[in-house]
Amino acid sequence: MTDDSSAPGPELSAKFDTSVPHSARIFTYWLGGKDNFPVDRAAGDKFRETFPDIVNLAGIGRQFLKRVIRYLAGEAGVRQFLDIGTGLPTADNTHEVAQRVAPESRVVYVDNDPLVLVHARALLVSTPEGATDYIDADVHDPEKIIAAAAETLNFTRPVAVTLMGILAHVGDYDEARSIVNRLMDAVPSGSYLAVRDGTDTDPAYVEAIRGYNASGAVPYNLRSPDQIAGYFEGLELVEPGVVSCPLWRPDADSSGAPRDAAVLSGVGRKP
Ligand SMILES: C[S@@+](CC[C@H](N)C(=O)[O-])C[C@H]1O[C@@H](n2cnc3c(N)ncnc32)[C@H](O)[C@@H]1O
Repeated sequence: MTDDSSAPGPELSAKFDTSVPHSARIFTYWLGGKDNFPVDRAAGDKFRETFPDIVNLAGIGRQFLKRVIRYLAGEAGVRQFLDIGTGLPTADNTHEVAQRVAPESRVVYVDNDPLVLVHARALLVSTPEGATDYIDADVHDPEKIIAAAAETLNFTRPVAVTLMGILAHVGDYDEARSIVNRLMDAVPSGSYLAVRDGTDTDPAYVEAIRGYNASGAVPYNLRSPDQIAGYFEGLELVEPGVVSCPLWRPDADSSGAPRDAAVLSGVGRKP
């Protein structure tokens, strides 16, 4: 996977706290990316020992993101996207998928990881017809995110808000619900919410997360399937509802098995 010669150099490493693992960097390690530090790789390997399926799930999660964006830009006709908890740039980032369907798509990325910020320029290469922007902000402050995103997105027209693998980083479930509600209050009817997050249904996953949370990283809080479904309250769920990632509108590129219910996903439309 990652080879040390292509990992971030000492100059870059000096800008970050490389003594604790970080979710975006571990995630990119599992996906085969290079932007991670020894502490991330050690945490990623430890996690994988307890729950080997995680590497599979990371890939399945990205496939879900691709299918959702294709659906939203295609069938649903959405032209504006707010991708919160973007992660490190990889193949098929949100704007690339959306602009392949509709070149005029406008995409705003949000993350609070300094390493994602360093690589953000890879996310800012838009089609001439569309636009992309990157906001360095914390999901705990949705009002700041909306205000900054309004420079690129028109909040009187439908916006798809995507929260993939980030709501579990909000410690308190009620606060996570409040964040979702405040974001969806800011967008008009015909807007969408897409969520992907881990559940507490698989004992090996729960155990691996317990080890990860003890590592000093920002904790990832697994939630029950009902709690994840709760994010969509007040929205019209798009078929097939809140399901394990591989079961959400699978296509020819999809992999994964229904037992991967350790990660649930869904899309809802604001009436
Ligand atoms: C598991 S990664 C998911 C990346 C991407 N959304 C995907 O699906 O592949 C979670 C991302 O959320 C970001 N994140 C975590 N806590 C955050 C916060 N409080 N505010 C903004 N971003 C946050 C991390 O930096 C990381 O990039």
